[in-house]
Amino acid sequence: MIEDLWYKNTIIYSLDLETFMDANGDGIGDFEGLMRRLDYLHSLGIDTIWLAPFQPTPNQDNGYDISDYYGVDPRHGSSGDFVEFMQQANKRGIKVIIDLVVNHTSDQHPWFQAARKDQNSRYHDWYVWSKKRPTDWNKGMVFPGVQKATWTYDQEIRQYYFHRFYNFQPDLNMDNPEVRTEIRRIMGYWLELGVAGFRVDAVPFIIETPAPGKKKPVLKFDYLAEMRRFLQWRRGDAILLGEANVLPEENKKYFGAEGEGIHMMFNFFVNQHLFYALASANVEPLIKALKATKEVFPSAQWAQFLRNHDELDLGRLTDEQRAKVFARFGPEKHMQLYDRGIRRRLSPMLGNRPQTELAHSLLFSLPGTPVLRYGDEIGMGDDLSLQERDAVRTPMQWSDDPQAGFSDIEKTVHPSISEGPYSFHQINVETQRRDQDSLLNWMSQMIRLRKECPEIGWGDWEIVKTGSPHVLGMCYRWRGNSLLVLHNFDEKPHEVRIKLKEEDGKRLINLLKNEPIDFDKEGIHKIALEAYGYRWYRIGDLKHVLHRTKA
Ligand code: NOJ
Repeated sequence: MIEDLWYKNTIIYSLDLETFMDANGDGIGDFEGLMRRLDYLHSLGIDTIWLAPFQPTPNQDNGYDISDYYGVDPRHGSSGDFVEFMQQANKRGIKVIIDLVVNHTSDQHPWFQAARKDQNSRYHDWYVWSKKRPTDWNKGMVFPGVQKATWTYDQEIRQYYFHRFYNFQPDLNMDNPEVRTEIRRIMGYWLELGVAGFRVDAVPFIIETPAPGKKKPVLKFDYLAEMRRFLQWRRGDAILLGEANVLPEENKKYFGAEGEGIHMMFNFFVNQHLFYALASANVEPLIKALKATKEVFPSAQWAQFLRNHDELDLGRLTDEQRAKVFARFGPEKHMQLYDRGIRRRLSPMLGNRPQTELAHSLLFSLPGTPVLRYGDEIGMGDDLSLQERDAVRTPMQWSDDPQAGFSDIEKTVHPSISEGPYSFHQINVETQRRDQDSLLNWMSQMIRLRKECPEIGWGDWEIVKTGSPHVLGMCYRWRGNSLLVLHNFDEKPHEVRIKLKEEDGKRLINLLKNEPIDFDKEGIHKIALEAYGYRWYRIGDLKHVLHRTKA
């Protein structure tokens, strides 16, 4: 039953415990703080939380350097707090997915410590070594400009170890069956504690077998099938949500054959073309990207997003397209990162409410499941004085109180934004909650609307001709219900002429505001979209839509 696939119509909220809510007053967010904010998330309409890594870590890469997979970093609480949080989330019908960071461990992990001490240690072969310095030791870095190598010499064992990311993140050797068994144990552990699935970090690198000096590493998709089988055996409705910024054709391999690969993949390709459309007001490349990622199995799903905790990666655009996005959204050098991305939050990039609404309306209406980044619901800004990606990881702005209501003490894990138009004095939950016209209230309305349109998650879609290079038109159909969504990417108003298909009927019902809609003798609707305007229409009869949920 397609309706059983809960992940196709859920609203995912991604957050980092560290910066969400500090309950014990040490300046670092914790599970107790998050529990206090569950009602907020629930009333916003969130039904899935994606928690960034919270396990014990030296924290050199925002927790993506784990030193114990079976626990909770004491800065965030205890395992008891985690279980309590799960109970509280589930009570509200909120599912929880967590990061599965198994491409690499921290170099402080006891496995790596043992591996580097003794060639004969059981753990030595859990990592990837080379006795000689590989010719490509300084190639293939994920963080160019900051990361200097992918093979680093370890003084203790006198060998080079491989690390796709920073040198404190040695890659695990997936070809070692013991490693794969251990990964299953990790998954099993958290599944037993009730998580609904995993956001799988760095999937292309998990399945690669790096070989010193070799140009193209082999990718072993079988490992994904193995993970999936195990996951489903332990918990039938749990999911894998994969992070792989790869081209659409390649992406299909990650989804695998029906029921064998990753359930959900972030649609990085659409994301980058979406930003190009926002920067250029030209929707053609976005349409191409949508079409290129259209064909997926019925149970597979895209996760759509605007921003995440990393830089906005523009690596899949052409040089010319990328230059346009840089010029519009990250013109200054210090806004850019790793030669390919922008380290800014959404609101300051767009700089105006109409375009912020347009972007989110689009997010909620794209084929797939929307993933919201904490703080974007109130239009939080960034702090470019912080290093690298930390610019977009400032504390959640709850109120106008000191430290944005995030913590009682002044020295917080990252400073709150206290100056300028995005400071917590201006932008915070408390103020926006009271203001009917706030972005926050608009966002809850859009989330409600998205939930009332299940055809986006379950149905089929096609591009609708609008006659304008600036206006994207999409139509969804599912079990006799249809939905038309229009988005004008231009800063100028445009009138579009839409001809509906005979079988859809002729009536359009605006789902967001009262508006008379006429069509002429040929059945063509003329719709005047304001600058950055958007529309959501039911096609046909609303009566059917509300009741016709059965095939
Ligand atoms: C992808 C994560 O999103 C990023 O934050 C992290 O630095 C790398 N993987 C390494 O785990």
